[in-house]
Amino acid sequence: MIDGVLLRRAESEDAWAMGVIETACWRVGYAGVLPQAVLEALDESLRAKRWRRILRRAGSEAWVAQNLEGRILGFTALGLPSEEWEDEPDAQDEHRVRSLFVAPPFWRLGLGSKLLKWAEEQTVVLGGQHILARVPRDASWVRKFYERAGYTDIGGSAGRLDGHSAAFATYEKLLEPLAPNASHS
Ligand SMILES: CC(C)(COP(=O)(O)OP(=O)(O)OC[C@H]1O[C@@H](n2cnc3c(N)ncnc32)[C@H](O)[C@@H]1OP(=O)(O)O)[C@@H](O)C(=O)NCCC(=O)NCCS
Repeated sequence: MIDGVLLRRAESEDAWAMGVIETACWRVGYAGVLPQAVLEALDESLRAKRWRRILRRAGSEAWVAQNLEGRILGFTALGLPSEEWEDEPDAQDEHRVRSLFVAPPFWRLGLGSKLLKWAEEQTVVLGGQHILARVPRDASWVRKFYERAGYTDIGGSAGRLDGHSAAFATYEKLLEPLAPNASHS
């Protein structure tokens, strides 16, 4: 694990770093999984614009992991019940890991696990009893990541990734409720 990593709530000023990290993750992690043309067509500034829009929304739940120099190394965002999903209209009424991205140079250092644990804790604080994550089925290492974190594959669905058709696996984890006095601490 890297020393001195701080998790803090994402602000709209973080949108550019989030767009850059998201784009790099797709290009590095999904080479050979998604067509090269799809990966090359990804646009950091469009991703950043989308994050800026999400982060400006009241009640958006997103956090960044930042190192001692203030560099953003990764981020996670929750999808919340009753939220309108621009690309997945059937995704409502669930607590979900909307996004979880760690910048490729920092993979396998425990950052993804730290962000995921935080997302789960925040879901419990928001009243969620379970959390879902939707993962491209061909991304076997991401499935391994969620399985190691205690998630179970509960089924699949077809979907789109940046306009490209892809098969997804839905992972679920049941969450422990807060201890009765936890909200008073
Ligand atoms: C998935 C992702 C967030 C994992 O982040 P990370 O910081 O590398 O994860 P961790 O270091 O906490 O890994 C925890 C465990 O997951 C598994 N894992 C993670 N990456 C793996 C890989 N490339 N290959 C095999 N197992 C892997 C391992 O069991 C690992 O433990 P270990 O390193 O002790 O063996 C990161 O790879 C990423 O950003 N990927 C691209 C974006 C993405 O697909 N996000 C998820 C979709 S919602």
